[in-house]
Amino acid sequence: MESDLGEKVRQLALLQQWWTEDTFDFEPTSEIHKVPDAGRPEKPELVPPRELPKRRLGSKEGHAALMHSILHIEFNAVNLALDAIYRFQDMPREYYRDWLGVAGEESYHFQMVREHLYHLGYEYGDFPAHNGLWVTTYETDHDLLVRMALVPRTLEARGLDVTPPMIQKLRAVGDKRGVEILKILLRDEIGHVEVGTRWFRYLCAERSLNPFETFTQVIDDYFHGDLRGPFNFEARQEAGFSDDEIAWLKTLESA
Ligand SMILES: [Fe+2]
Ligand SMILES: [Fe+2]
Repeated sequence: MESDLGEKVRQLALLQQWWTEDTFDFEPTSEIHKVPDAGRPEKPELVPPRELPKRRLGSKEGHAALMHSILHIEFNAVNLALDAIYRFQDMPREYYRDWLGVAGEESYHFQMVREHLYHLGYEYGDFPAHNGLWVTTYETDHDLLVRMALVPRTLEARGLDVTPPMIQKLRAVGDKRGVEILKILLRDEIGHVEVGTRWFRYLCAERSLNPFETFTQVIDDYFHGDLRGPFNFEARQEAGFSDDEIAWLKTLESA
């Protein structure tokens, strides 16, 4: 719920410290609140995706706008990792270790991209942004299985597909630091999707569900819009996508 950026980063570091010192409080909270709007600064202004202005990467502004959209995703990603910890309170200890690890990496990404954007002459909030990632997080707050299928395994996994072409574009405009940062993001995001895959499978096993059928069913039932390629099969495989799932994505890509 913290809306101040520096304070959010600081409080997260405190959670991590409690974890390493083994003083992390596992006591379930009596009530779990819905969070339609996670803590965020007044800016950026949130707009529907189609209202985001299209900018060319070749301009200074377009370049910064791209970095800003990545920055906004990283910001949301901190919130969504923490929500996964807060909301689902009856999971094994390793689940919380995994998501606290993800939250820490998202916070690191956020700070790194923020600094780069600053060097390009802009700040977080200087461009409008859309709230898709949080909306899906909120819409999947009733069931961790649905959450894992849709947030890490669909939305974060999309990042694996779109990052390599983004790296090429940044390379083309000579943004060496940007390329370096995106490579780190890609490496870490494979790990985040893998965490989602692992806990998705865990819940499927617990409920005696077929993971492949369940995954495609959840996409059908909950995902707005089409799952569209091109997909980064190599990265998705590394992130734990099964042969069945890869084959299914290949049929979507050629369709
Ligand atoms: Fe990230
Ligand atoms: Fe992530």
